[in-house]
Amino acid sequence: MAYHKSRELFERARGSLAGGTSSSSRITTTGPEPHPLYMESGSGARIRDVDGNTYVDYLLAYGSAVLGHANPLLTDALSTVLASGTMFGTCNVPEIELAEKIRESVPCADLVRYANSGSEAVQGAIRAARGFTGRSLVVKFEGHYHGWTDTLAVSSKSTRDEVGPYEAPFAKPHSRGIPQGVLDDVVICPWNDAEVLRDVLDAHRGRIAAVVCEPIVANNACTMPVPGYLETLRAECTRRGIVLVFDEVCTGFRTGPGGAQALFGVVPDLAVYSKALGGGLPISAFAGCREIMEQVGDNRIKQGGTYNGSPLCATAALVTVTQLADPAVAGRIDEAGRRVMEAVRRASRDHGVPCAVQGVGAMFQIVFSADGAPTRHYRDLFAADLDRYERFRHELLVRGIHVNVYGLACWFVSAALEEDDIRRTCEAVNEAFAAL
Ligand SMILES: Cc1ncc(COP(=O)(O)O)c(C=O)c1O
Repeated sequence: MAYHKSRELFERARGSLAGGTSSSSRITTTGPEPHPLYMESGSGARIRDVDGNTYVDYLLAYGSAVLGHANPLLTDALSTVLASGTMFGTCNVPEIELAEKIRESVPCADLVRYANSGSEAVQGAIRAARGFTGRSLVVKFEGHYHGWTDTLAVSSKSTRDEVGPYEAPFAKPHSRGIPQGVLDDVVICPWNDAEVLRDVLDAHRGRIAAVVCEPIVANNACTMPVPGYLETLRAECTRRGIVLVFDEVCTGFRTGPGGAQALFGVVPDLAVYSKALGGGLPISAFAGCREIMEQVGDNRIKQGGTYNGSPLCATAALVTVTQLADPAVAGRIDEAGRRVMEAVRRASRDHGVPCAVQGVGAMFQIVFSADGAPTRHYRDLFAADLDRYERFRHELLVRGIHVNVYGLACWFVSAALEEDDIRRTCEAVNEAFAAL
């Protein structure tokens, strides 16, 4: 496979774009050579780069293109909106229809508000929780990611040297430029440990506005909640008058129409959506119980945004969530993902390379470690062999399988995968294991 044009484009981009990219995460599409791949087109489950290489895509626009690329239903609906005006900055019908659809699907959603990215919607939910409770502390779990804005840009990728004590992890800013005040208002807690959770909540009694989590930790290699843990979170928050926020940016509409809260049967007070919500267009939402969301509605808690709920993005979301609510579509995603997960487990056994394959059909990750045990919390991932994952990813890429380069992220499975794509993936997985 050749990548000359991608390399040349990156050199050109560095002259005008900071770092040559539009996001600190774009480098995650890096090819085997140290430059990103430039994609030119996509159709269904496949994408094509500027050098003419094609890939079965499991990065999937970080999970957004859940129906596949250039999905005809989406393209048709959006063409109509394009021809009649993409936004007016006024109220519109698609935003109502979408909110009604979200209410139908999502257990916690009495009322909905839109934004444009996951980070923004997280900001909205956290402000709502702080405004509602009159408190300022937010408990965030070590390793969980909630976007790049100041609100929660803390302790998602701390190194072994930075994490501090297990029971009271240090609050480590994502980067320079995040003020001390942000760190003062965020309390870090280890995930999946009910006892430590209770201790942390006790230590800050009466001062915690919200507990926020990724119910399946997509950004920690799809670490799953241990049985009973989400229920404990729910019970402890209720007991203490703390707002429980599920960040369903990755799980929402993907693990089924009701997201993780329906999958696990635990209903938070507020939840945040993006990615699969928009099917590839920039829309996000936070939704939750009437008591809290009414304060957003009557402007006691302020939330705004020029682009919120634009007809273009609301239409894309409406088409997408309608499709994902179809059991046949959801079933197809789940089954395709489970077949790939099973192929990885088989290859792991056949080639004697231990790994954990964790998550659900629609989103999963492979964690290479000496014992192949599933991870429970962020610090378990220090034992993950990320160099081996990188070799694995490279072996897949040269066989036409495109996944997120970051070994602690996950594979996203699209509704557009066809038999041939799944077979090609399973074969590539087997060959990649053989090459490790
Ligand atoms: C769980 C979770 N929350 C929030 C975000 C932030 O979303 P965005 O990148 O759209 O701002 C992400 C992004 O990957 C995410 O995975």
